[in-house]
Formats: sequence, structure tokens, C-alpha cells
Amino acid sequence: MRELKDMSVLVTGGGSGIGAGIARYLAGRGARVTISGRRQEKIQAVANSIGPACLGIAGDVTVDADRHRMLEAAIAHGGKLDALVNNAANMYRQAVGEYTEALLKEAFDTNVISAMMLSSIAVPHLEKTQGSIVFIGSTHTRRAFPGASPYATTKAAVEGLTRVMAAELGRKLIRVGCILPGAVSTELNLRAGLFTAPQATERYAAVAPLHALGRIGTETEIAEAVEYLIRAEWVTGVALEVDGGIALGVSQF
Ligand SMILES: NC(=O)c1ccc[n+]([C@@H]2O[C@H](COP(=O)([O-])OP(=O)(O)OC[C@H]3O[C@@H](n4cnc5c(N)ncnc54)[C@H](OP(=O)(O)O)[C@@H]3O)[C@@H](O)[C@H]2O)c1
Repeated sequence: MRELKDMSVLVTGGGSGIGAGIARYLAGRGARVTISGRRQEKIQAVANSIGPACLGIAGDVTVDADRHRMLEAAIAHGGKLDALVNNAANMYRQAVGEYTEALLKEAFDTNVISAMMLSSIAVPHLEKTQGSIVFIGSTHTRRAFPGASPYATTKAAVEGLTRVMAAELGRKLIRVGCILPGAVSTELNLRAGLFTAPQATERYAAVAPLHALGRIGTETEIAEAVEYLIRAEWVTGVALEVDGGIALGVSQF
């Protein structure tokens, strides 16, 4: 296993939820972490709460110039780049029969193409460190939730991408992995305007029993898996379910 201490890690979408949890966890174990997101105040608040090991940079992953700025900031902050965690994403729900091209294009632009482009410009830097790329997929590619097909297909795309990228970048000794989280209470659905905060709490309570272990997960439990993927030197191309067993499809039938 590679040492986490002094690794330089860029985490997109680090101003809230799972991304903030990953940044806090890795910084707490000696990594130098750079986080990005569109809302400056969120990014700055998380960076301030973590301390000097964490640099916050406002930016939009769908904007090419911003992607370059994030990468350059991470290299300036950490002196190099050891890992890119493509975590930024939005929830996109739309019923089949009510699809709009605009929503589908935005979903793929944000959740898939941005991560592909950022990974692409990170390659020369990761080659120097024999580093890694981690995608955050979802249990939506294991369990079908009606209404969520736009989001689920973007997560299927990054999971598929993981295998091809791992195959292609293996000779450069760059490892690529994907984590498929089960439910974690974050602002993902709130930001999409899908539920109010009380409704979100109710929904997380309702989804807990679908997990074999009977509860939803925490940001830290996802961060532990990110740590594993960026440290494990002989693991690449995997999609790792970190989901309390929701993918098992447990049924009392
Ligand atoms: N929570 C769950 O149950 C769950 C389960 C499976 C997978 N996931 C995945 O986990 C990851 C983190 O989500 P989360 O649950 O922690 O939700 P979250 O708190 O809403 O985090 C997503 C972050 O992405 C950022 N973001 C969105 N669009 C962006 C853009 N265009 N440019 C830069 N940053 C952008 C958001 O910040 P700004 O709006 O400020 O840009 C936000 O901080 C996502 O990939 C999500 O799909 C979550």
C-alpha cells in the first residue's frame, strides 16, 4: 500500500457531503487536499474547517478553464498530483416519456464529460507520480429506482469508463477505480430541488431497510474506500460497492 502522507489529492465537489467527507478524512491522515465546487462560500468553509492541509478553489467542472485552474491549484498546493477524485455530480430525475434533451445533456455534461475531461488533463501529472483516478458511481447501477434514469445512466457511464480507462492507463502505472455508494444523507436531492429537508429525512429513513445492514452510510465510510483505492498498488479497474448491502436486493419474500 502506498503512503497517504504527503499525497496531493484533488477532490471535485468538496464543498459538501461525500466530497467534504473525503477531503477531511484524507487531510486528517496527512494528505494535502484541494477541493473545488461552484459555491465559493461552501468551499471556503470546508477548507477553513480542515485547516492548512486543505486548499479550496471555486470553479465549475463543466468549464474547461476552471478544470485547468483546479488542477493547477492542486499541483501548486501539493507540489504534484497523486490522485484525482471525480466526486462532483448532480441528481437528475425525469420520467421516461417526459425526457428533455436539455436535462439529459446537462446530466452527461456535469456527471460524465467533466470527469472525463479533468481526468484527461490530469494524466501527465498522474503518470509522474504513478497515481490514481477515483470515480464516484452509485448503487443506482445496481438497484433500479423509477424516475432516476438520467442520473443512473450517468453513473453507469462512469462505471464503464473506469474499466476502459484502467486498461488504457495501466501501462502508465495509473490506477483507476470507482466506488458505488449506497445512500448517504447529503444535500444531493435538496440541491436538485426534488425534496424539502423534512421529505429528505423521511426518504432516508424509508431507504435504510433496503440496505442489508439496516442503515444508510456516512461520508467517512465512503472516504475509507477512497483511501483504499488510492493506496492499493495492485488494484485497478474495480467498481467497489460501499453500500451497506443495498446492492444485494435483499427481499423478505
Ligand atoms: N448521497 C448519496 O446517497 C449518494 C449515493 C451514491 C452516489 N453519490 C454520489 O456522491 C457524490 C457526492 O454527492 P453528495 O451526495 O455528497 O452530494 P452533494 O453534497 O450535493 O455534493 C455534490 C457536490 O458537487 C458539486 N458540484 C455539482 N455540480 C458541480 C459543477 N458543475 N462543478 C463543480 N462542482 C459541482 C456541488 O457543489 P456546487 O453546487 O457548489 O458546485 C456539491 O458540493 C456524487 O457523485 C453523487 O452522485 C451520492
